[in-house]
Amino acid sequence: MKKLEARVVFFVLFFLPGLFASGSHGSKQSHHRTAFFIFGDSLLDAGNNNYINTTTLDQANFWPYGETYFNFPTGRFSDGRLISDFIAEYANLPLIAPFLQPGNRDYYNGVNFASAGAGALVQTFQGSVISLRTQAKYFEKVERRLRKELGRREGKQVMSRAVYLFSIGNNDYLSPFLTSPDFLNSFSPSHYVSMVIGNFTSVVEDIYRRGGRKFGVINCLPLGCLPGTRLLMLNSNAAANASECFHQLSRLAILHNRALSLALSQLSQQLRGFQYSLYDFHTDLTHRIHHPSKFGLKEGKTACCGSGPYRGEASCGGRRGKKQFELCEEPNRHLFWDSYHLTEFAYKQSAAQLWGDHTFKSNTAMPYTLRDLFQRF
Ligand SMILES: *[C@@H]1O[C@H](CO)[C@@H](O)[C@H](O)[C@H]1NC(C)=O
Ligand SMILES: *[C@@H]1O[C@H](CO)[C@@H](O)[C@H](O)[C@H]1NC(C)=O
Repeated sequence: MKKLEARVVFFVLFFLPGLFASGSHGSKQSHHRTAFFIFGDSLLDAGNNNYINTTTLDQANFWPYGETYFNFPTGRFSDGRLISDFIAEYANLPLIAPFLQPGNRDYYNGVNFASAGAGALVQTFQGSVISLRTQAKYFEKVERRLRKELGRREGKQVMSRAVYLFSIGNNDYLSPFLTSPDFLNSFSPSHYVSMVIGNFTSVVEDIYRRGGRKFGVINCLPLGCLPGTRLLMLNSNAAANASECFHQLSRLAILHNRALSLALSQLSQQLRGFQYSLYDFHTDLTHRIHHPSKFGLKEGKTACCGSGPYRGEASCGGRRGKKQFELCEEPNRHLFWDSYHLTEFAYKQSAAQLWGDHTFKSNTAMPYTLRDLFQRF
């Protein structure tokens, strides 16, 4: 049953857009739909990195990625769907296809621009990822095309009704530790954070100028407490306690999240009609790391797929240099899928929080939920 469902989704997602790509679009459709545009990093990348010249470190288009839901590695860094996929389902939209997927010319439901490894700063994993700035350029192409097809007025209406979702910042802080810390170290932490926030804000302002009004933002993970960064801590500090988080990274994430919250509230005061939903992924994930069983999980620290302590080595799939890796039997009982990413089960819980699903007593999306952005405004 599940397999059949997965095949149907696969068919709709990958073949229907191609079938209709050259036909004329009913513009009626655009009157009733709210388009969903997705930007950022691997938390939201549905496969853009399959089509760029990069390394397997920034790709997930091999088994066992996708094993739980799609039965096929789509390029998503999980065993199944991502937060953005669940949000699309809540909003009665099809799964939103990657911008770079060949044949993706159907933009009426939105487009996914996210790229694993991407940051707000161009220096972040430069050359291996699609930076947020480039994602914004791709969005401008889409916006121009919609405006041309629909006319100025209707094009603008589609833009202002659309919801724009971001997950950005994580890699800006992670990449210096994984590549060269010199870049990070040449700034004070608060200056570095202000550059990240400044670049993010300027992309949001560009989208606003093109008509965008409704923004969803996922804040930074507890960056020091991921399987991959706990391992980094162990490797860099022989005296480290085996259960320690990487404090320097944790602090950067906290600084970032404070500045992000402030920046969004300022934008909403400065820009008329600007509405946002800020999802406190950091707090939510911290709870789940410490109390996995309260959330139906067995394991909150060690990944399902990978090797070494916490399975923190990014060897999931055996295609990133190291061939051997371990794979758990029940991804649904794990919070983390691989060294830096969550399982589908965990993403589903996050999507419920962001959407404002009633099954949760407390919502961590403020001041609005994503459902408000899709349905109320
Ligand atoms: C991809 O990147 C590698 C390494 O940077 C380079 O040698 C190669 O020419 C690139 N290939 C394409 C098709 O751009
Ligand atoms: C954007 O980032 C660059 C570094 O990549 C920095 O020099 C610049 O000041 C930042 N822009 C803003 C508006 O903060």
